Amino acid sequence: MSKFKIGVLGSGRGSNFEAIAQAIANGGLSADLRIVISDVETSRILELARKRGIRAEFVDPGGFRTKMAPLSEARVVALLQEAKVELVVLAGYMRVVKEPLLEAFPGRILNIHPSLLPKFPGLEAWRQALEARESVTGCTVHYVDSIVDGGKIIARKEVPILPDDTAQSLHERIQAAEHHLYPEVLSFFCNRP
Ligand code: GRF
Repeated sequence: MSKFKIGVLGSGRGSNFEAIAQAIANGGLSADLRIVISDVETSRILELARKRGIRAEFVDPGGFRTKMAPLSEARVVALLQEAKVELVVLAGYMRVVKEPLLEAFPGRILNIHPSLLPKFPGLEAWRQALEARESVTGCTVHYVDSIVDGGKIIARKEVPILPDDTAQSLHERIQAAEHHLYPEVLSFFCNRP
């Protein structure tokens, strides 16, 4: 059986990418990681992909701060299509996804967010949960659509907030949960008939 082809988009550290790549290497996830694309030329995610021998491409985002310029996003789409990607996995991708990508991969873009959505969409969700004095937060894998952090929820994992938690300690524990949840969800997708 041919393996499900995945493309990853990320802007930063790439720890979720690494967890996914590791799950594939361990045999826990049967997928073909075809390409990693970043809007940040010096991002660690590109470095990690290259170390693993996975195609790693920087796409210049153009002049916008929160989204890719339309031509840049079209370039991302072309790269994903050229790599025959079936599922687009956002892993710390810090730009809002717009029409070129949404239209090219309808219902086939996933994201992971560091809160129990629909609570705390947006930036630094772990800090938002801490400041709201929640006792539990977590992470969510969801479909990506035109509403930021608003697409249909696929799976969530809870993380308790401890009395002496700082934003950093909480974020680290949420990330550890993400590293289990994302490969689990992907293996569900990749094993579908
Ligand atoms: C994760 O915490 C994820 O929830 C958010 O961005 C962060 C990416 O971290 N969307 P990394 O680049 O995978 O380490």
